[in-house]
Amino acid sequence: MTQTPLACIILAAGKGTRMNSTLPKVLHQVAGRSIVHHVLAAAGALQPERVIVVVGPEMAAVSAAVAPVPTVIQAQQRGTADAVLAARAALAGFTGTVLVLVGDTPLITPATLRALVAAREGAGDPAVAVLGMHVTGPNAYGRLVRDGDGGLDRIVEFLDATPEQRQITLCNSGLLAFCGRRLFGLLDQIKPDNAKGEYYLTDAVAVARAAGARCVVVEGAAEDVAGVNSRAELAAVEASLQRRLRASAMAGGATLIDPDTVYLSADTVLGRDIVVGPHVVFGPGVSVGDAVEIKPFCHFEGVQIESGAVIGPFARLRPGSTVGAGAHVGNFVEIKNSQVAAGAKINHLSYIGDATIGARVNVGAGTITCNYDGFGKYRTEIGAGAFIGSNTALVAPVTVGAGAIIGAGSVITQDVAPDALAIARGRQADFPARAPAIRALRQAAKAAKAKLDAI
Ligand code: UD1
Ligand code: MG
Repeated sequence: MTQTPLACIILAAGKGTRMNSTLPKVLHQVAGRSIVHHVLAAAGALQPERVIVVVGPEMAAVSAAVAPVPTVIQAQQRGTADAVLAARAALAGFTGTVLVLVGDTPLITPATLRALVAAREGAGDPAVAVLGMHVTGPNAYGRLVRDGDGGLDRIVEFLDATPEQRQITLCNSGLLAFCGRRLFGLLDQIKPDNAKGEYYLTDAVAVARAAGARCVVVEGAAEDVAGVNSRAELAAVEASLQRRLRASAMAGGATLIDPDTVYLSADTVLGRDIVVGPHVVFGPGVSVGDAVEIKPFCHFEGVQIESGAVIGPFARLRPGSTVGAGAHVGNFVEIKNSQVAAGAKINHLSYIGDATIGARVNVGAGTITCNYDGFGKYRTEIGAGAFIGSNTALVAPVTVGAGAIIGAGSVITQDVAPDALAIARGRQADFPARAPAIRALRQAAKAAKAKLDAI
């Protein structure tokens, strides 16, 4: 059986006024990924032939963010049916199933979308399939009015509903799937004669029924289609997604000692038998190999940590970094745009930026790579097996050869040859028995001052 081709239209022309933000609503982030990219990811899992995002005027930022996915502009926001009509030219000649999604529902899952598409392509060749959800308690969702055959007769918007219709708990999630051959014919018949004076996409159901076509409902979980309209809803959706991500990390074989305090990104990749201590934040672009131990209070972004590494507590790993197998990165260590090879140890109070640290290198406490001179950034290269004494400043660009030893407290400004010893600090001067004399001198001066003060 050949699969019916699929197209997805993502409606995102709404201004999102209640976000009170200069950033378009769908570009706000949830779990380190913009809301619209969550929707695109879920839609993408169904391998659609075409995807089109409908934006409003002055939403170039959204177009740029979703590229290469094409956007079409809905000139005026005249309702959800009008928004779908904006994609008409982009869908020219398309006869498969058209899935209409909303751009502000980051929790939508591929499984829910698949169920909706399957219903549209199922028995009776329905013109429209609607994702419904049961919602109790006051709400302004559209109400789904069933027909006598277990199908859907029409959708009544809350503002237009009678008191009896408002008692219906089966509501419209806002996600619909259409037969592509009939979609635009239905939309052309929709009129804006309703409480809002808008072209309602939901009226496509009544229009299809009037033409003798079948319409159906698939029930989904309300959480999956939770929309983001305010900062409070953004936080609520973030909390839901974090719960899902934590559960899936644990199912994948990671121990989270206190899951509620671990923050993950949508793209975080965790291996098996990882132990993550409390209060760890995984920003975007992090992958962690098997059997890595992450102690409490770490912050990661754009970093690849290989198997068996031990990180933290209080480590900050920044974009462009890799930490090799079995390496140790300890407390108050910051690493940025650096490659730390297998078995290297940077255990205490260091800044490693724009550096390459060879295998088994030991970086002593307080070592700093001086990578920035106020104008440009420069690299530090340290060869395998080198030992960097505590409190060393490595003034980049600089290379320390494999196996070299740097004395503690050095300021290294010139390259160090492999296996060389380099010490770059003031020489120590010792004066035997000088301490008691200094003490006597200082005590006498203090006593003389006390005498003067007493006068
Ligand atoms: C819509 C549904 C309602 C459903 C609810 C679920 C209609 C008429 N009603 O109502 O049955 O219960 O969603 O949340 O569809 N948009 C555009 N252009 C427009 C208008 C809207 O792109 O001209 C986009 C918005 O950005 C948003 C989506 O369409 O992403 C839904 O629009 P919205 O105004 O929120 O519809 P609701 O009144 O919530
Ligand atoms: Mg809405």
